[in-house]
Amino acid sequence: MERLVEIEKLDFERLEDPSLRPSKFSEYIGQESIKKNLNISIKASKKRDEALDHILLFGPPGLGKTTLAYIIANEMGSNIKVTSAPMIEKSGDLAAILTNLSKGDILFIDEIHRLSSNIEEILYSAMEDFRLDIIIGSGPAAQTIKIDIEDFTLIGATTRAGMLSNPLRDRFGITFRMQFYKTDELAKIISLASKKLNKTCESSAAVEIARRSRGTPRVALRLLRRIRDFAEFNNEDNILLNRTLEALNELGVDERGFDELDVAFLKILTESKGRPLGLSTIAAALSEDERTIEDVIEPYLLANGYIERTARGRIATKRSYDLLNLPFSELF
Ligand SMILES: Nc1ncnc2c1ncn2[C@@H]1O[C@H](COP(=O)(O)OP(=O)(O)OP(=O)(O)O)[C@@H](O)[C@H]1O
Ligand SMILES: [Mg+2]
Repeated sequence: MERLVEIEKLDFERLEDPSLRPSKFSEYIGQESIKKNLNISIKASKKRDEALDHILLFGPPGLGKTTLAYIIANEMGSNIKVTSAPMIEKSGDLAAILTNLSKGDILFIDEIHRLSSNIEEILYSAMEDFRLDIIIGSGPAAQTIKIDIEDFTLIGATTRAGMLSNPLRDRFGITFRMQFYKTDELAKIISLASKKLNKTCESSAAVEIARRSRGTPRVALRLLRRIRDFAEFNNEDNILLNRTLEALNELGVDERGFDELDVAFLKILTESKGRPLGLSTIAAALSEDERTIEDVIEPYLLANGYIERTARGRIATKRSYDLLNLPFSELF
């Protein structure tokens, strides 16, 4: 089981404070329809004493997919094994994971869109029939070995549902699309987290941080921790609005929560004056990789109507021109 990692060991998670991660539905703010549906499925499967259906969670980074997987395990009273698709290189890696599962266990595979096709195929029969079909050897001498495994629940997380193959996507009984959070939900997350950090956050300060968090709890918590540093530096016990505004300014987070990269992205699009730009062109101009642009920068801008994606590329909407104080009407 050496390839099974605890999520805390993954790089991006290490930067986060695990004590701020909610462990119960009651502490998981927002995503109301997901919580409602999950609650029903969890109660029903417990009543039947069956494993929960396989669940696919998709949505931009930092919206709470991993957190939700842990909460599901907690509410089910199940063990959770955590891995990520790039760590499953060979079919033997996956076979080792699957044959070690006990009845009702949850297997969480992060970045599930990155599984190679031969590994995906092993998952098909595991998900459907709780059986492993492993082919040994090749050519006429190839043999298939069938191994039964325990009923388990696969929770897959991805930032890219579109990159999942249809057969894999179809084998998830439950699919949830994570939504960006509203300001009041983020403000609540910030207030709860600041209590855990032994600080009280003025409600106006929590709202201000929330407004600048791009609808994303991970961003909200990151800002909160930085602002707490400013408060501590100034010997303040609580997080006050004035200090918050000063800190956000110092950190270069503008009123909409856009940082330099967002603004640079929008500038490139507006400079093309209505001509759609391809992802690779934008990536080269920003010196960023395409994945960061697609996964981190674009979803929030798309969801909030700053950009549009057409078959020929990305274009900035009037909203972006307004944001940058550029004339929009001259384009036409
Ligand atoms: N609904 C929520 N309520 C409270 N806190 C939340 C919520 N969702 C996420 N968080 C907090 O935000 C942080 C980021 O969430 P998480 O790591 O689960 O995101 P993710 O969707 O798995 O991101 P990635 O795609 O990068 O893996 C967590 O540390 C958690 O504390
Ligand atoms: Mg995650």
